[in-house]
Amino acid sequence: MEMDNDTVNAALKKAISQRRSTRAYTDQMVPDELIEEVLEAGRHAPSANNLQTTRFYVITNPEKLALLRDTMNDVLQDTTEKEGMSPGLLSLIKRAMQGGVDVTYGAPVLIVTTNRKGSANAIADCSCALQNMMLTASANGLGNCWINQFHSFRETPQLKSVFAELGLSKDEEICGSLILGYAENPVIKPIPITGNRVTYIR
Ligand SMILES: Cc1cc2nc3c(=O)[nH]c(=O)nc-3n(C[C@H](O)[C@H](O)[C@H](O)COP(=O)(O)O)c2cc1C
Repeated sequence: MEMDNDTVNAALKKAISQRRSTRAYTDQMVPDELIEEVLEAGRHAPSANNLQTTRFYVITNPEKLALLRDTMNDVLQDTTEKEGMSPGLLSLIKRAMQGGVDVTYGAPVLIVTTNRKGSANAIADCSCALQNMMLTASANGLGNCWINQFHSFRETPQLKSVFAELGLSKDEEICGSLILGYAENPVIKPIPITGNRVTYIR
């Protein structure tokens, strides 16, 4: 279906303004076609020098999801609190110590993006893909949230070993990841944007 520019712009604006991070999911699985739709949006993202070296690992196997969740929990338990750590990370460490934390919030789909190790634009390329995927997920009624811990703790032996088991090679670097699923509470109000300052130089 061809859409005129006004319709495309209105749909895009709506997708951007209504996207929110979801942190509680139902057990309902996401249909394959919808996962593919989200992935295609990610694959169509721009990349520096058009290298297209982002890779997408789509994990839906419940045992592998549990393995990642449990390994991440162990990694957090082994992390010593340090001055300068973000409040978010300190809270995750505390929760891991006090009975366990699931950084994937029980979502049924986890997409981990990787890129070539040492590539200057690894994170930038993956971020473009992740944003395309988050917007497409939201526009299709799917809850989603960027998950950063698999990137932040990518050098820990525990995560390295699990990701090697999942097929990642030594030349790959884990960048951001994304969870998908159906939100427990689908309607989340937009947050006010008070930062992200703009300076015009005319
Ligand atoms: C680079 C990046 C890393 C993030 N990491 C996490 C994360 O590890 N866990 C999480 O729950 N949310 C994470 N988020 C989501 C942000 O917390 C969220 O986007 C922000 O609070 C604004 O809320 P909104 O997405 O609902 O608009 C991340 C977002 C970005 C862009």
